Amino acid sequence: MTGTVLVTYGTTNGSTAQIATAVADVLREHGLTAETRPARSVESVRSYDAVVAGAGLYAGRWHKDARRFLRRHRRDLAQRPLWLFSSGPLDPSASERDVPPVPGVQKAMARLDARGHVTFGGRLEEGAGGWVARMLLRNGKGGDFRDFTAVGTWAARVADELTRV
Ligand SMILES: Cc1cc2nc3c(=O)[nH]c(=O)nc-3n(C[C@H](O)[C@H](O)[C@H](O)COP(=O)(O)O)c2cc1C
Repeated sequence: MTGTVLVTYGTTNGSTAQIATAVADVLREHGLTAETRPARSVESVRSYDAVVAGAGLYAGRWHKDARRFLRRHRRDLAQRPLWLFSSGPLDPSASERDVPPVPGVQKAMARLDARGHVTFGGRLEEGAGGWVARMLLRNGKGGDFRDFTAVGTWAARVADELTRV
């Protein structure tokens, strides 16, 4: 494939956007053209040949911008190679084992015939908005558990699948 890959994301505190940027960088290193866009600003996916969509996890669900993205573009997404990633666990679990998609994402994968999914660790740091975030931080649950080596390895696998003849 020589076309353009959309890497889109739903985020509240920005850490999923940084994962999306890292994914796009790896796709480019593999010779693909990649664009990163917040999920809420994507009007159409028709100009893209493949899509990678990710979201921060909030209360057991994907960030709402990313959920809406999957719903709004479902017909076009079902016709393109699609990979999904989640970012959430505020502990090392995602680096230690495969963390399955939350039920809503699992259903979306089946509906859209997605090629794969991965869960990466999350990040929660001082300054995050909302009382739950403040409570988690007060209870010492903050930190950056994103594993950019794992992000790179996964993105390279996506690139390999897309560039395979
Ligand atoms: C209110 C709140 C709820 C959360 N719920 C979950 C959850 O259900 N599962 C999970 O793995 N992580 C959960 N997290 C952790 C976030 O997914 C993590 O901080 C993620 O990196 C946020 O992404 P963002 O910075 O792109 O918004 C929660 C965090 C907050 C603040």
